[in-house]
Amino acid sequence: MAEQLALRVGVLFSQTGATAIIERSQLNGALLAIEEINQSGGVNGRRLEPVILDPGSVPIRYGEMAEQLLSEDGVTVIFGCYMSSARKEVLPVVERRNAMFFYPTLYEGFEYSPNVIYGGAAPNQNSVPLASYLMELYGNRFYFVGSDYIYPRESNRVMRNIVRQGRGTVVGERYVSLDGTPEDFDAVIADIKRQKPDVIFSTVVGTGTVHFYQAYLRHGGNAAKVPIASLTTNEAEVEAMGPQAAAGHITAAPYFRTISSDANRRFLDGYRRMFGSITTVTSCCEAVYFQVHMFADAVRRIGSTDTDRLRVALMSAEYDAPQGRVWVDPENHHTFLHSRIARVDETGEFVIQREMPRPVKPDPYLAYPALNDWSLRLLNPDPDPLGSRLEHVVHVNQQHH
Ligand code: ACM
Repeated sequence: MAEQLALRVGVLFSQTGATAIIERSQLNGALLAIEEINQSGGVNGRRLEPVILDPGSVPIRYGEMAEQLLSEDGVTVIFGCYMSSARKEVLPVVERRNAMFFYPTLYEGFEYSPNVIYGGAAPNQNSVPLASYLMELYGNRFYFVGSDYIYPRESNRVMRNIVRQGRGTVVGERYVSLDGTPEDFDAVIADIKRQKPDVIFSTVVGTGTVHFYQAYLRHGGNAAKVPIASLTTNEAEVEAMGPQAAAGHITAAPYFRTISSDANRRFLDGYRRMFGSITTVTSCCEAVYFQVHMFADAVRRIGSTDTDRLRVALMSAEYDAPQGRVWVDPENHHTFLHSRIARVDETGEFVIQREMPRPVKPDPYLAYPALNDWSLRLLNPDPDPLGSRLEHVVHVNQQHH
């Protein structure tokens, strides 16, 4: 019997340019899942075949390459994008051609598309718990530093609202271009020293992350006193900047490499076997890994890759991911994810400080009040000033500073 045609899927992550550090990690996550699926017989007898393109971290190229994948390469499903500016380029292409697009990256929220499954955290799953944690432990004077594009600006708009709900203030806000130099960050740090914040919230991405944390160290920044907190500084960026620059700083994410579970051990063993080491395993890598598996499971269930049928099947998709069980929220196409906060130790490893006891429902429009729910306040005249959501935070590691 002739072997069935391979099932081609588009894989659109940059291996060059400003965000290659993190997108190579995502590419590996996709390739690992594809390899596992093929090793276990493929999808309904068909091998998955990745069609890999490198947009070079240039947003407009993601749109052009998505078009190419769908019109020339016989693909109807794409896994891809880190930067929100890249996702915004792909969005109209997949909508016009009715393709399915899996986006495995945390982002600013405030988006929905019938053609997208969002696998990274929305602000209520990372920014809100992070702000609570920082205000409780460090203080409420925040300084925002970001790369200059849509995610940092929008994410900071959301963070500003959360901080204000917690009676905090934003004492400074600076943006550095994606190709910013180490010297660009020297000027930012001079301003941080003038403003004396309690905490720095960084939405700097890619290579800029390395420049920023190294500059903070060079200028005598004290992570134990005034940490840099982020959603985008993952294991791969820490690896690139070195443990000295990263130590003491904080990241909120659904997944960290240090999670102790059988699913995570299997994931890390597979990654090590395929890529030689686990130093670049990140939450964004884990997100694309479980999204490829969710896709394969859905195609197995319906025996088709037809987008309209696939969309229905994905509305009940779940997976025992390395972070724990995750599932798609049919209300908004985002994903129920775990919420964790970790601090980098002297060896450059993330040590989890807190985690929510169960996956958090995605609330991409922040439709439900975050820190201070005024309706709850009426029922409870003297609430914790940090708000009701903190009740759900479990302290897993009390040692800090
Ligand atoms: C991002 O641009 N969503 C990290």
